[in-house]
Amino acid sequence: MQKALIDPFQRKIEYLRVSVTDLCNYRCGYCMPEQGVHPDGHHKEYLSYEELARIIQVFVNLGVTKVRLTGGEPLVRKRLYELVAMIKPFAGLEDIALSTNAHYLEREAEALVLAGVNRCNISIDSLRPKRFENITRGGDLHKVLAGADKALAVGMKPVKFNMVVMKGTNDDEIEAMVDYGIEKGVEIRFIETMPIGPAGVSMMDQHYSADKILKRIKAHIGSDLIPSTDRSDAGPARNFHLSGTHARIGVISAVSDHFCASCNRVRLTARGVLALCLGQEDAVDLRTPLREGVSDSELEQIIVAAIARKPERHFFRENVHNIEFRQMVQLGG
Ligand code: GTP
Ligand code: 5AD
Ligand code: SF4
Repeated sequence: MQKALIDPFQRKIEYLRVSVTDLCNYRCGYCMPEQGVHPDGHHKEYLSYEELARIIQVFVNLGVTKVRLTGGEPLVRKRLYELVAMIKPFAGLEDIALSTNAHYLEREAEALVLAGVNRCNISIDSLRPKRFENITRGGDLHKVLAGADKALAVGMKPVKFNMVVMKGTNDDEIEAMVDYGIEKGVEIRFIETMPIGPAGVSMMDQHYSADKILKRIKAHIGSDLIPSTDRSDAGPARNFHLSGTHARIGVISAVSDHFCASCNRVRLTARGVLALCLGQEDAVDLRTPLREGVSDSELEQIIVAAIARKPERHFFRENVHNIEFRQMVQLGG
């Protein structure tokens, strides 16, 4: 019989987000402190690609069909395509995706696609070079857009842009992003800032609601947005077609809605901790048993027991100041 991971709230866990590093070459204010997470640089404790692949294999044996590689910035880890090539043959794994800031994507996209990545989501909060540099504290918009073009050229599909909308910082670019998405065939997702880690909490005064974003887009395109009924859209984004175009947009509103009832995912950090919910502290260390030499079936049991502890939901709205226990950059979004 096909194994499945079902949590206490009858949710089927089919999606594993794997952070391969918590380092990033950018410093977005809602995600990272300015000095980075390890100013003294002790990143020796990351799982190796062999260890990551072994854990991913066990998850796939347990019914996971979708893996997303995240960071920090996943492409600061060398030869990420080697990890992709290791997991690509796992029977039952249908989707290998990447969430990236795209700074190194122009260089890496082709090797990643050849190894088995089928799609990517790119963080991009502004289309104005100077503003982009300020938001990311040093980022290079030109490189990011070149990375996105390359991803499209080598056949990643879809390519999505994630724009965290911040009042007074980039909210005047919502319409420009929609136009860019239509022109390039990129799906734009507008994200509400989430109060995760001191960095996220510190930006909540710039929170901009998904409802306001949707009203602005409707006025801009001059017609209604058509809600997507595509089944593959299960996830935090509410997606819409823009009538008269092939374009789609999405909004991710973790604060003003919550989609926890249909949550299908868990997260593995670069140090081998399985985080059971983005907004709750519950987590289980997999690295120690792995390095102590557990068998695959023992690892399976540890994972099954962990999933039995998945919390029902986050409390972003009710309890903003309790989510300071970890940084978004360590969870990979
Ligand atoms: P798709 O598979 O393309 O829909 O990707 P995704 O939206 O799951 O992943 P991505 O890495 O692009 O994340 C986009 C935004 O959604 C980020 O701000 C994430 O933090 C947020 N997000 C992803 N998963 C969850 C979740 O389980 N809960 C909440 N609240 N937010 C999430
Ligand atoms: N709130 C909302 N989105 C965030 N991201 C990182 N930190 C936050 C936050 N505090 C987003 C990034 C990236 C995705 C993986 O997570 O913009 O696109
Ligand atoms: Fe880096 Fe992404 Fe965090 Fe920005 S949001 S600092 S690009 S990990």
